[in-house]
Amino acid sequence: SKGDFEHYMLKEIYEQPELIRSLTQYYFQGEGKESLEEATKLPMKAVNISACGTAFYAGLVIKDYIESKNRVRCFADIASEFRYRNPILDKEELAMFISQSGETADTLAAQSMCKEKGLKSLSIVNTEGSTLYRDCDVNLMIRAGVEIGVASTKAFTQQVLTGKTLSEVLAHGGIDDELRNTLASRYSLLAERVEQLLDNTKPIKDVADAIYKHKGFFYTGRGAYFPIAMEGALKLKEIAYVHAEGYASGELKHGPIALIDEEKVNVALVGEELFEKTVSNIQEIKARKGLIVSIGPKNRYELKEVSDHYIELDFEGLGDLAPLYVNVVNQLLAYYIAKNLGTDIDKPRNLAKSVTVE
Ligand code: F6R
Repeated sequence: SKGDFEHYMLKEIYEQPELIRSLTQYYFQGEGKESLEEATKLPMKAVNISACGTAFYAGLVIKDYIESKNRVRCFADIASEFRYRNPILDKEELAMFISQSGETADTLAAQSMCKEKGLKSLSIVNTEGSTLYRDCDVNLMIRAGVEIGVASTKAFTQQVLTGKTLSEVLAHGGIDDELRNTLASRYSLLAERVEQLLDNTKPIKDVADAIYKHKGFFYTGRGAYFPIAMEGALKLKEIAYVHAEGYASGELKHGPIALIDEEKVNVALVGEELFEKTVSNIQEIKARKGLIVSIGPKNRYELKEVSDHYIELDFEGLGDLAPLYVNVVNQLLAYYIAKNLGTDIDKPRNLAKSVTVE
């Protein structure tokens, strides 16, 4: 049941802190340990990720983790493209599939293609007993519980963290108490920050009230914030029915900037990395009269100067988990904009929770 929440989506957003905290127990002391151990033994000369929609964006963040932390080449593809493009695959490589339902037709087809070519497959999946779960050699459960809202929220967070956990175990060279403690405290810190955000959503609601009538939204980010930008734009378009795009911050000037005027909003996701570069990209949008909503580290004068609305976050100590924190802001922003527009948030038009057609 929705309990005190008006929508399942909101309820599921609020479940995230507890879910984030539960993951290390499951993988280091619980049932998940065995599958995590098995996952580290799979061939991994390179990793081929395929997934659809939100799960694909989670895959892009995981690619970022695996490449930077493990220095293993990682490819991420949209499953409906991957399966038809005759990809170059090798038995020494791993095939990784990410899915909440475990029933997405294109993801399943990508898995059976990889299996035919002799690759071992690993899933990052929510639904135990699903087709993907049954077909893969090893399954890493994301433990998000049932997700009812059509727009995926908590599943994304748990998918990324599950991939992160695998990447950390590979880098550490095994599963032990030292790593468990490190990850448990890092994940708790993330959970704590998300909780603080959820305890006071007024700054995000205020921004939603100010911008919900606008007609076009560009979410921008660099590095891991680029997939977070695409995910933020997807959330907004699917539940609020407004046009939104996710772009790499440095890419807008290569065309899309022609669209910028006072009716367009730039939701700029700003990390600590390449901060100045990202701010100067915002300035380019500002100069074309775009409305700037920045989401980034708190107390930054340069960001305050350039923004019409500045959602200030405490990134201290979060390191490469900060993009997940920003993603929760995006979830709430999309939710409140949709609420102002009066759309059917839990069951947006034209969409199904699980896409079993190709
Ligand atoms: C967006 C959303 C979809 C799914 C996609 C894949 O909020 O929910 O983009 O992420 O249809 O679904 P799964 O993860 O079930 O394979």
